[in-house]
Amino acid sequence: MKPELFTKETTAIIYGYQQKAIQRMLDFDYACGRTVPSVACIVNPSRDGVHKVFFGKGEILIPMYKTIRAACAHHPKADVMVNFASFRSAFDTSMEALHEPQIKTVCVIAEGVPERRERILAAEAKKLDKMVIGPATVGGVKAGCFKIANTAGTYDNIIASKLNRPGSVGFVSKSGGLSNECYNIIARNTDGLYEGIAIGGDAYPGSTLLDHILRYQAIPEVKMIVALGEIGGSEEYRIVEALKNKEITKPLVIWVTGTCSKMFPSGVQFGHAGAKAGAANETADAKNAALKEAGALVPNSFDDYGILINETYKKLVADGTIVPAPEVKAPVLPMDYEQAVKEGKIRKATTFIATISNEKGDELEYNHVKISDVLNCGLGIGNVIGLLWFKKQLPAYCCRFLENALMLTADHGPAVSGAHNAIVAARAGKDIISCLASGILTIGPRFGGAIDGAAQNFKRAYEAGLTPDQFIKDMKAKGINIPGIGHKVKSVNNPDMRVTNLKAFVMKNFKEHKLLDYALEVEKITTQKKGTLILNVDGCIGICFVDMLMSSGCFTKEEIDSIIDMGCLNALFVIGRSIGIFGHVFDQKRLKQPLYRTPYDEIAYMTDL
Ligand code: ACO
Ligand code: LMR
Repeated sequence: MKPELFTKETTAIIYGYQQKAIQRMLDFDYACGRTVPSVACIVNPSRDGVHKVFFGKGEILIPMYKTIRAACAHHPKADVMVNFASFRSAFDTSMEALHEPQIKTVCVIAEGVPERRERILAAEAKKLDKMVIGPATVGGVKAGCFKIANTAGTYDNIIASKLNRPGSVGFVSKSGGLSNECYNIIARNTDGLYEGIAIGGDAYPGSTLLDHILRYQAIPEVKMIVALGEIGGSEEYRIVEALKNKEITKPLVIWVTGTCSKMFPSGVQFGHAGAKAGAANETADAKNAALKEAGALVPNSFDDYGILINETYKKLVADGTIVPAPEVKAPVLPMDYEQAVKEGKIRKATTFIATISNEKGDELEYNHVKISDVLNCGLGIGNVIGLLWFKKQLPAYCCRFLENALMLTADHGPAVSGAHNAIVAARAGKDIISCLASGILTIGPRFGGAIDGAAQNFKRAYEAGLTPDQFIKDMKAKGINIPGIGHKVKSVNNPDMRVTNLKAFVMKNFKEHKLLDYALEVEKITTQKKGTLILNVDGCIGICFVDMLMSSGCFTKEEIDSIIDMGCLNALFVIGRSIGIFGHVFDQKRLKQPLYRTPYDEIAYMTDL
């Protein structure tokens, strides 16, 4: 295994769909001026595909595969796997990766990997001459080249710790949290980090402090080594031996944390699984003393760690060993939009205005009425229409009128245009939405779509003071059939009971119904010409709706004019008739009716016209 694990061209496979960690790796690439993203692809066992992610100021797609094998096959240059698998599958996936020829380094993030498996993993890596970092680690970073996952934290911290370009210091610790802190200490006291690795706090890591110290010893660009040991275990004594055997000749500043353990009753367990002194020589004090005696540079306490690092660095600069790395200005990383909004750094004009409902609070509100109240306070669909269409809590009789309109428009048998088209579509095997659409699309000025026209024209004529006769003549002169008048089958002698009942409801419940009275006068005249020229259901709904708006006391004149002119009343027919159309569609599907073809005796072939 070569001492250098990472270069500026290193690319990694990320096992686990860790979107934030991936974004942080690519932001690090941007800080370092990498042109090749350090994340080659993602292994996501639940699905393959692509993941869109920022790369500097732009966006790129990162491929996603279900298996490690597929990832390696598509990305043969990727030689690192950052393994986010949980402790349950971290061992198997790491072993699988180690046996992929192209993979040279596996970083295992998971905590809780069983010790027996950790030892097998470490042994397998050694046998294969490959590197395992972790388990239970945040990973590591090679300044200016490659960052593993969330190491070193945010972009600002990366810049503050000068990690966007290589310095002269090789660093290794057990602790991920402390490694981030030490990157900052090193940046403040030297020309910065060359590489930093956190091996993880477990008792049997895939690679040891000494493994990485010896790598730094072999890398010419590393001029001094800084390390952070930990109470518990005997790893630091292997460093002592290496110092005595002159395997380590570069200045090594090292501190073993946990000296405070002497203030606790014996056997205190610190955060890491391996951080407990099982014997006297495993205490931090014992280890610090042995390291110092072997020639390492050991501060008196962690407080002096930075000072000793700085003194060591200055000596190396003075004797020409270190030529301080120049500062490199990192590009400013654009702030994510969501973050900028959250911090109040930017404002964005909205593109939508919505005033009728809001689902962003604890619960959905229809025009400020909580859905719980809508459901539990006896409100009905009429109230809901009032709230969502007109932003009003309408009086009960108005809500009842709306509900009556919905009920009586729900259906009028299979022969009418809407039902017919829907039935034909259903028998053509169309889905229910397409069947609904085919039926609904027949609603227009002659069928079901005259409610608005009736309201507008009768209101205009009434407010203009036209007598019913003048109104009829006026519309005739314009060549317009009066919307709301006329029916194909209903007539004076075959009254439409829907209209009969709606009129009775209005007469009984509305304080006034002047426009209905006016319309009935019109009907008296039109039916003299032809019995089918009755006030039809569209006309009755539209005209009575105007009476409702005027008599309810809930609407200003401007609001009433706006509602009528806007043309929203046909919606009542659409909502109501959708119920019946669906009924016909389900009926046809229930009956398993075959494709419909119009019978020849329904068609007059007059091709010579
Ligand atoms: N206003 C004035 N005159 C009319 C009207 C009307 N609304 N409807 C028909 N007429 C007249 C016609 O001008 C024609 O007169 P003419 O003999 O002097 O030429 C005569 O009555 C017969 O006209 P047709 O179009 O043959 O009547 P039909 O019964 O086929 O029309 C229809 C029915 C389409 C509903 C028609 O009355 C109409 O267009 N009404 C206005 C639109 C409307 O209200 N539609 C909703 C209907 S209800 C519903 O769909 C739920
Ligand atoms: C309907 O409600 O569909 C009808 O009034 C129209 C019709 O022709 O019956």
